Amino acid sequence: MSNKLGMPSRKKLHIKTFGCQMNAYDSERMAEALEPAGYRLTDDADDADLVILNTCHIREKAAEKVYSELGRVRLAKARRRNEGRDTLVAVAGCVAQAEGREIIARSPVVDIVVGPQSYHRLADLVAEAVRGGKGLVETEFPAEDKFAHLPARPQGKVQVSAFVTVQEGCDKFCTFCVVPYTRGAEFSRAPSEIVAEVKRLATRGVREITLLGQNVNAYHGRGDDGADWPLAKLLRRLAQIPDIDRLRYTTSHPRDMDDELIALFAGEKKLMPYLHLPFQAGSDRILAAMNRKHTIAEYEETIGKVRLVRPDIALSTDIIVGFPGETDADFELTLAIARRAHFAQAFSFKYSARPGTPAAKLENQVPEEAKRERLAILQSQLDSHRHAFDRDTVGRKLPVLFEGRGRKPGQIAGRSPYLQTVHIDGPETLIGEIAEVDIVAAGPNSLTGVINSGFEWREPVQAAV
Ligand code: SAH
Ligand code: SF4
Ligand code: F3S
Repeated sequence: MSNKLGMPSRKKLHIKTFGCQMNAYDSERMAEALEPAGYRLTDDADDADLVILNTCHIREKAAEKVYSELGRVRLAKARRRNEGRDTLVAVAGCVAQAEGREIIARSPVVDIVVGPQSYHRLADLVAEAVRGGKGLVETEFPAEDKFAHLPARPQGKVQVSAFVTVQEGCDKFCTFCVVPYTRGAEFSRAPSEIVAEVKRLATRGVREITLLGQNVNAYHGRGDDGADWPLAKLLRRLAQIPDIDRLRYTTSHPRDMDDELIALFAGEKKLMPYLHLPFQAGSDRILAAMNRKHTIAEYEETIGKVRLVRPDIALSTDIIVGFPGETDADFELTLAIARRAHFAQAFSFKYSARPGTPAAKLENQVPEEAKRERLAILQSQLDSHRHAFDRDTVGRKLPVLFEGRGRKPGQIAGRSPYLQTVHIDGPETLIGEIAEVDIVAAGPNSLTGVINSGFEWREPVQAAV
């Protein structure tokens, strides 16, 4: 679409993102891919010419959200049509990949369905829909690499911490999980492409990079010289980029946590002491039924090695309760390992039977009531460990990377090396900087700190009331 001057006409794009950090990264890439066609982001879903729902299929609740959201979009579209304006609706992400054309059958308001491996086709699909194309569905796993076809990141936006997808897809086929079906086979981006992207981000003021992958530590990129690059080698290379101060990666699989990667927690100062390492269940019998291909003893051996090289590491995990066949005794084993490991952070879920996965067909499904009870017990234990970890940092001086404004006026917020949110009273000029902060209190979800030594911040004069 062009105006008289041959420039793309201004259009409004609203993207609503569900699910994991990879979806957040993909949403940014989609926005960039649509910029040349004149689309600019808006927060107002009701006023957008194009609405994209970037969806998640991991649990039933997440997948169902899409349809309630589409109900809302349908009303906005009807209202805009009365005003003589059109609204295009696209469903992207993992529900798009899993359900494909069914989405349009169930919700005819949808014009485009585009799976995660086809985002480089998005601009063409939108152009086709603008021309009146209906029911456009792109959910093949194309042979070409979408990353090579997506545009470079534009300049301008200021962010302090950024995600970069380095690995996508999964070949592990845990019996509960949709990811191998929605994201396809494991794929690693070329190291040179990643280094170039991180350098671009650094020139835009980014100080911290989190490398993303469904199994990020299974990363094996091919260097320009044909050599194999495991994740440790990629991290070491990225650490050489001067303006990047902090590196993180997520999500790791216990089976791919090799010694070279573990050693990096001691050997690479820019790698933050935080590791997200899901164990899913505490019972070896359940782990086998999940097809995780490791035992709890092996998991504990791995975290033991990590703690040996980096005693202060903040460990994080994912846990599922109520996998088919899980007994009270199995669940007790989950509580026990969680207690022993003492996680700084944890994400726990009720098992959700997903269509097309082997576990969904098992007959010994656990009743909803038992799942709910187990989750409540587990979460209260995990919360107390998280608080204990947070309280342990009170009284310490930690380097905090400030990312933005805090909740209250005059406050700014940032992250500790352990990924804790830290609030201080301080000037916005510190945003984008790392400062030493004395941690003075631990609240339910964040820490409070103060900056003193050598820092010239003075209390603002209180206005008289
Ligand atoms: N690749 C990562 C996990 C990615 S999915 C790994 O293997 O550890 C993110 C988390 O969602 C999983 O760790 C798991 O805890 C949870 N999850 C995945 N499928 C689920 C399901 N069917 N029901 C409940 N939780 C699920
Ligand atoms: Fe899903 Fe298992 Fe792959 Fe993780 S490793 S994405 S849980 S199939
Ligand atoms: Fe959800 Fe797909 Fe991420 S299913 S968790 S959006 S990989």
